[in-house]
Amino acid sequence: MTEQALSYVDTHFSRFVEELKDLLRIPSISTDPDYAPEVRRAADWLADHFRKLGFPKVEVFETEGHPIVYAEYTVDATRPTVLVYGHYDVQPPDPLELWTSPPFEPEIRDGNLYARGACDDKGQLFMHVKAAEAYLKTAGTLPVNLKFLLEGEEESGSVHLAPFIEAHRELLAADVVVISDTAMFAPGVPSITYGLRGLAYVEVELTGPARDLHSGVYGGAVENPINVLARLIAGLHDEDHRITIPGFYDDVRPLTEEERRTFRELPFDEKAWMEEIGVSAVRTEKGYTILEAITARPTLDVNGIWGGYQGKGAKTVLPAKAGAKISMRLVPDQDPDDIVEKTRRYFEQKTPPTCKLRFTSLHGGHPVLVDTRHPAMQAAAEAMARVFGRRPYFTREGGSIPVVADFKRLLGLDSVLMGFGLNSDAIHSPDEHFGLDRFRQGIESIVHFLERYGQRPT
Ligand code: BES
Ligand code: MN
Ligand code: MN
Repeated sequence: MTEQALSYVDTHFSRFVEELKDLLRIPSISTDPDYAPEVRRAADWLADHFRKLGFPKVEVFETEGHPIVYAEYTVDATRPTVLVYGHYDVQPPDPLELWTSPPFEPEIRDGNLYARGACDDKGQLFMHVKAAEAYLKTAGTLPVNLKFLLEGEEESGSVHLAPFIEAHRELLAADVVVISDTAMFAPGVPSITYGLRGLAYVEVELTGPARDLHSGVYGGAVENPINVLARLIAGLHDEDHRITIPGFYDDVRPLTEEERRTFRELPFDEKAWMEEIGVSAVRTEKGYTILEAITARPTLDVNGIWGGYQGKGAKTVLPAKAGAKISMRLVPDQDPDDIVEKTRRYFEQKTPPTCKLRFTSLHGGHPVLVDTRHPAMQAAAEAMARVFGRRPYFTREGGSIPVVADFKRLLGLDSVLMGFGLNSDAIHSPDEHFGLDRFRQGIESIVHFLERYGQRPT
């Protein structure tokens, strides 16, 4: 059954690419309300696609935000059930002028498909759809029962997803979740991600005087909110580059010696990594390697900062307001709500009487670690080994997919993070792309995975 499915993938591969291009032409930018109709169009496109493939149960669920696409193909109650999660929404394409070809006009150059969402996550979720098609059009059935849960709000915080999962426990019942929304360790080096960081995202605003003031007339006595904000932000790290918020590290699970040894054995080329992003020096928390620091230690970063005059030339102004967006990547067992409260306290205690503080929590997500001994993890490792000619590494990654923790908490399900991206795919950046070789290897790996996992006794 698998041989035929694989040869079907081979025969129909160029059509798969054309179909993916159609999906990529839809600018489903979830964070911008102006694009809500486009997000819906992408949802409908996928639902339609499942119907054409003969999925007997396909539904577009409304939420208070963007819709959720659900598709189900049940073969036989004695088979294991795999729940595939992916997201069909994308990040805004800005800055537009830095794209070589327009973000929503997919183009192939040098074996890479360029478009917003090519890798994150339309290209990767579509691999699962095509693997299912390969079985359905050859064997007329699937090795497992398959459920798809595709959301349209991942890039804007998945606000309505956890409530949906909670309200549809039975619908979503499964043996394991499989997600392709992460990266391989390096080109040609497959990996399965067993750890993801969580997130706490806050916004801080300081107000000083009631209006912008002449900096000559008032400067010297009126404290400048930008100066204050800069001082508070600068105080958030110490000289060892540790975060100074009281209690910030309380719940951080230390890396075990065994984990650190595994990290050291990974073929991570620090110099090449630095070159690729154009930095000549790094700053990690004292005592940690780059790889540990970017995947298994918490961070705090200012994402944006504003206030005062930003236009051309000079304007002498003492601004009334200053603001910043701050994100913290979290590791097990940090709790996003707890970290937000600790951060709020830091700002409350440090804000001088010259300023008023407005502190808002934007969104967050829990960090996760998955047990690598899970039978589906092992099936995925064997499947990838077949396709890549070498066993995948088990790695941790620094990005966040908050729903992974929700699947565990709400459904008791572990997730296999079988990703085929590369860090050089420029996700969230101009010229995002996905290698067509990896699109193909991904589909083939999933075909093998479904077969292997399907043989597992339930
Ligand atoms: N697919 C990424 C997450 C990711 C990227 C994991 C690379 C591992 C490696 C996902 O779409 C994403 O961008 N997540 C956001 C989450 C946030 C909006 C809650 C992130 O990590 O910033
Ligand atoms: Mn993603
Ligand atoms: Mn993303």
